[in-house]
Amino acid sequence: MGKFVIEESGRLKGRVRISGSKNSVLPIIAATLLTDQTCTIHDVPALTDVVVMQNLIEDFGGTTRWDAGDETLTIAVKNIDKIEASYELCAKMRASFLAAGPVLARMGEVKMSLPGGCAIGSRPVDLHLKGLAALGADIAQEHGYVHAKAKKLTGANIYLDFPSVGATENIMMAAVLAKGQTIIQNCAVEPEIVDLSNFLSSMGAQIRGSGTDTIRINGVDSLSGTSHNIIPDRIEAGTFMIAAAITNGDVEITNTVTDHLKPAMAKLREAGVDITETDEGMRVKGARRRQPIDVKTLPYPGFPTDMQAQFISMLAVTPGTNIVTETVFENRFMHVPELVRMGADIKIDSRSAIIEGVERLTGTQVKATDLRAGASLILAALAATGTTEVHDIYHVDRGYFQFDEKLRGLGAKILRVDG
Ligand code: EPZ
Repeated sequence: MGKFVIEESGRLKGRVRISGSKNSVLPIIAATLLTDQTCTIHDVPALTDVVVMQNLIEDFGGTTRWDAGDETLTIAVKNIDKIEASYELCAKMRASFLAAGPVLARMGEVKMSLPGGCAIGSRPVDLHLKGLAALGADIAQEHGYVHAKAKKLTGANIYLDFPSVGATENIMMAAVLAKGQTIIQNCAVEPEIVDLSNFLSSMGAQIRGSGTDTIRINGVDSLSGTSHNIIPDRIEAGTFMIAAAITNGDVEITNTVTDHLKPAMAKLREAGVDITETDEGMRVKGARRRQPIDVKTLPYPGFPTDMQAQFISMLAVTPGTNIVTETVFENRFMHVPELVRMGADIKIDSRSAIIEGVERLTGTQVKATDLRAGASLILAALAATGTTEVHDIYHVDRGYFQFDEKLRGLGAKILRVDG
């Protein structure tokens, strides 16, 4: 399952370049199912989740070519030769469900296993299905599968009870080939929604309003191939901001859109961390003595839930009482017991973590339970005394490209031990 062996690393210093966004490239790969022409996607991070999505495209009958040298993924789905996705691939990754909208739109039918829950919560897809049904799909759920059929999808007005990122993406990808206009209200406004919208528009889709809470789509008969550059990963960038802060380091982060990181920047500055915007991104200098802060996760543009675990690691060694409230997922504190084993003083009270900053954490053996929890334990280990072993690092490889190499480039003492 592999582990990272991490020694107390002192102040991280130097420059790190951020890779393309995992949460942008996954829906964009799914969107290539909408055309029989070739799509070329640049700035693609070589993540295990990307490989799963690639395999899913091939499972449906498409061809993919990965060029590691220039981080380019070329995809052509000339024909979709089946409407049912492999259970194994769907079970591996929740984002596989993003193929439902495109396959339904192109083939008039799709059958996919319901994504299982995962460490951070039950993560239903009721809002995805509500949207597809509103577009005219007949949806049956049986034996853990969703079977959706629609001769021709027709545009509709859809109000999302919650601004779900995945539901917004699935509905967008179904609506672009539907007959007539679709209006999605209370939709997600994350930068990854805008990137997907730009990708679809470059294929010939007619979409307005992405990035606002109302998206308007006029369906078209077909879409063409395109080429596209994936936006930088704002969560990877935020993770390295914390790496600089927790080690009291001085790190320049490049290939970053600071506009996508306003909430994390505001909270870090409130804690006393020095952040200067640069032409290529930002420079983050840790504070000798940080101030305690309170954080509440919210859908974008609020503080990102995907940065919550990493923040808690920093607050664990920030003097004073810090309160972090997780409002997006119902079970996203799995990293807390592991941090407590490293000496953190954290109590969970329903959706909030109350963190009393301690002087130092101490290294021990810990286990990654999900992607961001794994990242948070690695960050804590950098600043902890002694040696920490972070196990089950396959979770981390799902969403961080060359995480250990990038950290070593900043002076971190981290070794990958496969096994
Ligand atoms: C996306 O997941 C991201 N994943 C997640 O990143 C991220 O945490 C999340 O958005 C929120 O920003 C990808 O983009 C691949 P949601 P998604 O639908 O689309 C509930 C990471 O670490 N909900 O916005 O699954 C759901 O249970 C990952 O990179 C419903 O109730 O998130 C959750 O509580 C983790 N019904 C909340 O909404 C639905 O039909 C947010 O989910 C859909 C969602």
